[in-house]
Amino acid sequence: MKIFKTKKNLNSYLSLFDKNISVGFIPTMGAIHNGHLKLVQTSKNECDKTICSIFINPTQFDNSEDFHNYPKTFNEDIKKLKESKCDIVYAPNVLDLYKKNEKAKKYNFRKIDLFMEGKFRKNHFNGVATIIEKLFKIIEPNKAYFGEKDIQQLQIIKNLVNQINSKTTIVGVPTVREKNGLAMSSRNKLLSNKEKEKAAMIYRCLNYCKKNRLQPISKLKEYIIEKFKKTKELDLEYIEFVSLNSMLPIKNWGEEKNNVVCIAAHIKKVRLIDNIIL
Ligand code: PAJ
Repeated sequence: MKIFKTKKNLNSYLSLFDKNISVGFIPTMGAIHNGHLKLVQTSKNECDKTICSIFINPTQFDNSEDFHNYPKTFNEDIKKLKESKCDIVYAPNVLDLYKKNEKAKKYNFRKIDLFMEGKFRKNHFNGVATIIEKLFKIIEPNKAYFGEKDIQQLQIIKNLVNQINSKTTIVGVPTVREKNGLAMSSRNKLLSNKEKEKAAMIYRCLNYCKKNRLQPISKLKEYIIEKFKKTKELDLEYIEFVSLNSMLPIKNWGEEKNNVVCIAAHIKKVRLIDNIIL
């Protein structure tokens, strides 16, 4: 596995590739877990070469504490990616990708960013899109893999490739979960085993909504809000039923064909998100 710290060295290596070779790309912020590795595996099944980036992107954090506390496990990450037979890792420093004091670009995501993560984390998706546009321009992958765990991010990226006329195909990969249902996340590394057990309630609530789809949305929301009120360790930030395509809230079933139920919640100071496609 080749590891590059600069885009210059990565690019000179990539320029040696035959034009017919297909390249799959998995952008990550590190603290690699089985969710990330599923994306690597999917790329390996579909592409000739697989590149993974590890970069904690400063412009997508609205909270400097969250940015500084973000888990960093570089040596273990490299080991896991090697074992998964990833071909190339790009792990740059901030100055390889951003000029000093450079801010996120402003995009128009046509309302995909109006609710949920876009509403509660101001400027978050501008930061995500800024870094993905930069990475796509450097790597020019045939395909790029994103988790359904971050469903709104996935839809933002699909919108982004249209905006910037990128030829990269965006592939969504289903969420990988712990045995108890908790969605795998780098932030789980900040939780104790007990807290992870508590956090599995997020998945149970999403599943409850899926199983009780015949009930009105307002009733389901009420039930979940009550459930969180009774669990002192977990703070619900939002529960939202949205259209899969537009990411806009639905009030009643049948308004849209494909829908998703999404939750964001805090446990200690750790913010977790999860969703189920209905
Ligand atoms: P990060 O949280 O490291 O996630 C990298 C990719 O892995 C994302 O596409 C995410 O949706 C996916 N992923 C995370 N947990 C998953 C799980 N349990 N199952 C399946 N896929 C999962 O998302 C980011 O980084 C950043 O915003 C990034 C896109 C790299 C831009 O900085």
